[in-house]
Amino acid sequence: MRTRTRTRHPAALAALSLLLVTALAGCGQEARGGSRYKADAEKGGTIGLALPTKASERWIADGENMAKQFRQAGYETDLQYGDDKVENQIAQIENMITKGRRLLVIAAIDGAALTEVLQRAHDAGIPVISYDRLIMGTEHVDYYASFDNERVGELEARYIVERLKLGAPTKNAGKTYDIELFAGSPDDNNTRYFWNGAMKVLQPYFDSGRLRVRSGQTRMNQATTLRWDGGTAQKRMDDLISKNYGEESVDAVLSPYDGISIGIISALKSAGYGTAGRPLPVVTGQDAELASVKSIIRGEQTQTVFKDTRKLAARAVAMGDAVLDGRKPEVNNVKDYHNGKKTVPSYLLDPVSIDRSNTDLLVREGYFTAEQLS
Ligand code: GAL
Repeated sequence: MRTRTRTRHPAALAALSLLLVTALAGCGQEARGGSRYKADAEKGGTIGLALPTKASERWIADGENMAKQFRQAGYETDLQYGDDKVENQIAQIENMITKGRRLLVIAAIDGAALTEVLQRAHDAGIPVISYDRLIMGTEHVDYYASFDNERVGELEARYIVERLKLGAPTKNAGKTYDIELFAGSPDDNNTRYFWNGAMKVLQPYFDSGRLRVRSGQTRMNQATTLRWDGGTAQKRMDDLISKNYGEESVDAVLSPYDGISIGIISALKSAGYGTAGRPLPVVTGQDAELASVKSIIRGEQTQTVFKDTRKLAARAVAMGDAVLDGRKPEVNNVKDYHNGKKTVPSYLLDPVSIDRSNTDLLVREGYFTAEQLS
């Protein structure tokens, strides 16, 4: 029979055992924590960096920091921004694959839109690191570097609770405060982590009646802001004010990102907030972008969450370098980030809450100069 004659053939047997040995060696490498990607004898090559947009200062900083740190580690970089258009980002990643980039670091515009292109990356043997935002629905994501995203939402919500002096969420323990809620882009996986983190803190206060959402828009899908766009948030805030707050004032606005906060504050100001007799509400944020930190110092935006992009970049570079070296990158979370296909081993950094009382931390940390904040 064909199979028997074949397997009995000495050359075929030799080839078969070679295959087996290679496969076993491969397993051993996986088990030891190495990656399936071949460690090249020499360092170097080009890393593809695919980031969402230049419209936000944080992503510009992320790109510059990674490019600089990858260069210091001995690599070239190919840094591309997708202008917040999913099809641009896919084309950019395709191009990186065609050009033989050794590693892809991706902050997705739409976390669920990269399945096909990442299949191609996988077929070409290119490892992938998901940067800041988790890529969904594919096994072909090797590692995830981000901040503790649920903690970000918690920090924003706790800040509101403290500023309004709500104390413990006991029933009927005082005045009811009005809050409106904003969420991030619905196609960004971080959005639900921020939201859930915030709701964990706020829900008991809704239950006890200390906090109320006059608009009734309490579900995440009623509060999302496509592509984190400040203008979209401004329009929604205009609407929320005009439809729900005649003579009454809103006391707090949960905002998950500085660009959204700036839009919300513009809407509030055009409705007469920020004047004597009608103070601006507590407005949270995220990213410690320069415009927002200045707004905090001026007493407009109230809080932001600082996520040091230099540290995140360093983490992604360390991960990438380890993967390309056949070493196992350091991770500190192997359970919380399931993307629908696999739990992606992650390294999560700690976010820090910033308000008027501690903006100097950003100067001490060298994130901004004193002049920038003056
Ligand atoms: C999120 C990110 C935030 C913020 C937002 C808008 O994915 O975690 O820090 O930058 O995008 O860019």
